[in-house]
Amino acid sequence: MTRTGSTFPRWIPLLGGLLGSTTCGMLLYAFSVFIKPLQAQFGWSVPDVAMAYALICLIYGLVTFPAGRLSDKYGPRKVVLFGGLVMAFGFFMVSTITPPDPAVIAAGGEAARRAGRTPLYLLYLYYGVIAGFGGGCVYLPPIATAPKWWPDRRALATGFTVVGLGLGSFIMAPMATSMINHFGSALPVFKTVGVAMGIMAVLAASCLKTPPAGYRPAGWNPPAGTPGGPSDVDSRDFTYEETRKTPQFWLLWAAYFCGSFAGLMVIGLIAKHGIDAMTLAYKAREGLDPLAQVPTGVAKNIAMAAATAPSALAIFNAAVRIMIGPLADRIVTKKIFVTLFSLQVVAMLALFPAGKSVVPLAVCAALIGWNYGAIFTLFPATLLQYYGPTNQGSNYGLLFTAWGIAGFCGPYLGGKLQALTGSFMVPFSVSALVLGIAAVILLLLKAPEKKQA
Ligand code: 2OP
Repeated sequence: MTRTGSTFPRWIPLLGGLLGSTTCGMLLYAFSVFIKPLQAQFGWSVPDVAMAYALICLIYGLVTFPAGRLSDKYGPRKVVLFGGLVMAFGFFMVSTITPPDPAVIAAGGEAARRAGRTPLYLLYLYYGVIAGFGGGCVYLPPIATAPKWWPDRRALATGFTVVGLGLGSFIMAPMATSMINHFGSALPVFKTVGVAMGIMAVLAASCLKTPPAGYRPAGWNPPAGTPGGPSDVDSRDFTYEETRKTPQFWLLWAAYFCGSFAGLMVIGLIAKHGIDAMTLAYKAREGLDPLAQVPTGVAKNIAMAAATAPSALAIFNAAVRIMIGPLADRIVTKKIFVTLFSLQVVAMLALFPAGKSVVPLAVCAALIGWNYGAIFTLFPATLLQYYGPTNQGSNYGLLFTAWGIAGFCGPYLGGKLQALTGSFMVPFSVSALVLGIAAVILLLLKAPEKKQA
């Protein structure tokens, strides 16, 4: 029995997804601004602090699976409300970690490392585990809910529920930086932003509810379409158990892992690569020894120029999530996937030589952001085309664990490869290879056999 129309304005779940994903963007994608001030205050090393980020990606990415199952069973509102409060609590609690005596930190050595040990474990617990757990519970349910209200524009609706990851980082990075400069410490940022996250998550949860089964907007009927195409979803409602038994699901999982692994590996390195390459180019132009120091003013200008890369990447990472939606609602996503993954291979190979000048680096970063951000709309949209909307929470929750595992090992491996070889060319080439494998997987992908309705 299909139900048309509903008194609940269907743009409200989109607002809920936008709010929830913006909170997640604040949680995840601006962590790099905290690294230096946390190191200065607690005496931690870069790998020490980087482990907190790897941990939050893993927990956040793995929790989406049970969160999706619970959202399918009990509705999105309860899961997002609970997750939002847990996330806010974890983020807020970082502000309560007591820094060691500055004199001990300044003295360095074993005493400083010992003094920083417990606070480091508390950072892993509060930010990595608790806030990560809450973040995964906030991220997934809107992605499963919004397309149910928009069967006529499923991919576009999905885009609205993930665009906030880019917006959130765009808001958080400058805001956190100016607060750190004002307070001289990162800790007050966790207190203030933790409260803000709690409020935003409660508002997001209040916007979310599941429409009646078989809901269709008044006056709209699904056109008969090609198997596996955007308009063929209604007769494909696989259960979660049926979905995970199809080979297509695990091929998508592998491609998602590769796309996320390559993107996250490079996102963590792109600014440092720019500074490195531009500094070497400056010394060559000036006829300086490669090991010579550059004047402070020049170093500051180079850092500013290199910073355009992560900004360009963040803008396109956000914009594509909405812009790719209407296209994915009209054609089978496989064609878009193969095009974007092939473009990403080219971008990764061009990134190393592009690093020495600001414009080629920014263009490369923008292309990488575009191709990376698109996957967060395209993969859920493909699951909807293949398996239908009813169990999207469970299905996409399981698929998204690919991102969680990629987020745990990608940035770490990228940093290790660069440190071991002393060159950014190696991690960028590995990314290109991994993306090439994903492009072949997606090229060979075929929609699962149509399930008898
Ligand atoms: C995203 O960017 C959380 O990384 C995931 O949507």
